[in-house]
Amino acid sequence: MIITLFNGSPRMKKSRTYTIADEFLRGAAEAGAQVEHILLQKKKIKPCLGCFNCLIKTPGICIHKDDQGELIKKFMASDVAIFASPLYADNFSGQTKTFIDRLIPILDPHLEKDENGEVRHVKKHDKYPLLGVISNCGFPEQSQFPALKIIIRRMARNLDTEVAMEIYRGGGPLLDAVDTPLKPVIDGYKNLLRKAGAEVAVNSKISESTAAELEKPLVPVDMYIATANSWWDEQIKEARKA
Ligand SMILES: Cc1cc2nc3c(=O)[nH]c(=O)nc-3n(C[C@H](O)[C@H](O)[C@H](O)COP(=O)(O)O)c2cc1C
Repeated sequence: MIITLFNGSPRMKKSRTYTIADEFLRGAAEAGAQVEHILLQKKKIKPCLGCFNCLIKTPGICIHKDDQGELIKKFMASDVAIFASPLYADNFSGQTKTFIDRLIPILDPHLEKDENGEVRHVKKHDKYPLLGVISNCGFPEQSQFPALKIIIRRMARNLDTEVAMEIYRGGGPLLDAVDTPLKPVIDGYKNLLRKAGAEVAVNSKISESTAAELEKPLVPVDMYIATANSWWDEQIKEARKA
């Protein structure tokens, strides 16, 4: 089982996305998966030019000569490919979106109808990886990710594959609070992430019980709002002192 995680947080190893992804991959590796955690921010990935050279003139090969060619090889060699991203404006980060746009060379340009009669691309490769999402956001609730849930399902439909796993974490900044009384809560959540990783490594999916545990809030919403607002006030006051 090869699991490749494409991390689109510009904050890289300092990011909450990294914290979640790292625990998840740790659990997967302990259960026998071959894992790789790729930081997209470190890669040179130019935005898609929409020229369609990769579909017409040089099938499968993009006109840009940058790191995306290697990343596509890793994507296609994976059993599970995970898009890990902070929630930005209710969507994937720009780094993640640019990476997704540049996956176009793996498609065949021709059209066909899917089993529901809706048009999609003809399948080019025998096998595409199962897809996954890991995301976190600043607002506290688990209801903040509807756009990502739709996008990953549309991607799976287009590639004729399936969504293997999704982990969404509202209140992501809480994961930084390791030196506070919240530590046991965070440690418990990290244990769950490792369990989820092990389940994907073995069963290509997260069990219903683990998924339900992962969805539970880390703290009550009103407490989160009060703490977040004091934190912002403090930051603003400090920054404007000078
Ligand atoms: C440009 C930008 C847009 C954001 N948009 C949202 C948003 O729509 N909803 C939300 O809850 N948080 C939003 N946030 C907050 C981030 O999702 C939050 O800080 C997250 O924990 C960052 O994750 P990271 O540490 O993995 O990069 C935004 C942050 C930035 C910088």
